[in-house]
Amino acid sequence: MRIRMVAGNWKMHGSLAENKRLLDAIAAGLTGAHEEHFVVCVPYPYLFSVQDALKSGNVAWGAQNLSQYEKGAYTGEVSASMLNDFACRYVIVGHSERRTLFNENNAVVAEKYVAAQRAGITPILCIGETLQQREDGITEKVITEQIAAVMQLAGIESFKNAIIAYEPVWAIGTGKTATPQQAQDIQAFIRAGIAQQNSSIADDLTILYGGSVKANNAVELFAMQDIDGGLIGGASLVAEEFIAICRALRH
Ligand code: PGA
Repeated sequence: MRIRMVAGNWKMHGSLAENKRLLDAIAAGLTGAHEEHFVVCVPYPYLFSVQDALKSGNVAWGAQNLSQYEKGAYTGEVSASMLNDFACRYVIVGHSERRTLFNENNAVVAEKYVAAQRAGITPILCIGETLQQREDGITEKVITEQIAAVMQLAGIESFKNAIIAYEPVWAIGTGKTATPQQAQDIQAFIRAGIAQQNSSIADDLTILYGGSVKANNAVELFAMQDIDGGLIGGASLVAEEFIAICRALRH
């Protein structure tokens, strides 16, 4: 069954005090049983306190990155097993900020995806084109290559335990959302590519849209056939916005 999901990506924001206020408000706004998955992906140092705050509720937590290595002399890195110590259910891999600012290429992203799955953590694999690539007409080529790198290393079966987030780079943090149809077109293309290898895995695959999703555009985005929820940056830091986006999944 295809899961519908809203995941917040806090990026490098927060403090112990701010997180507490935010999580208290989110927990109060999202009570009750629900089929959808709600997740917050937080900076590493807060995993302990976020786990403590959320462990008895219905919002899951995860990290924003991990090392591709299991352990060793990798100063400053955090392994998948360390994320397991804090019961992370999800980890974002290949976010465009990691790709562009920290030089993570498709091969490294694929290794991180495998490292997460090996530890039993579901990777949220981010893919998407830059504005230049869109204008050059190579969006589909870029996305195909991003997925192919993971497919080659991890295989089609791995997509049973993965989430894809389509995030056009030009829409991230810019206030410029892809139109629902633009996002739908690419997300249908992504699903069709997976279906070429295995149609039931493609049917069950959760594909999120990310890039300036707000409370006021979430309903129309999530209404599209191949948009199964969102990966939310800026709006995930504002409790009312995040709660409204989570509720938009139910429309
Ligand atoms: P945004 O970020 O919602 O602030 O555009 C999305 C993301 O980077 O995942």
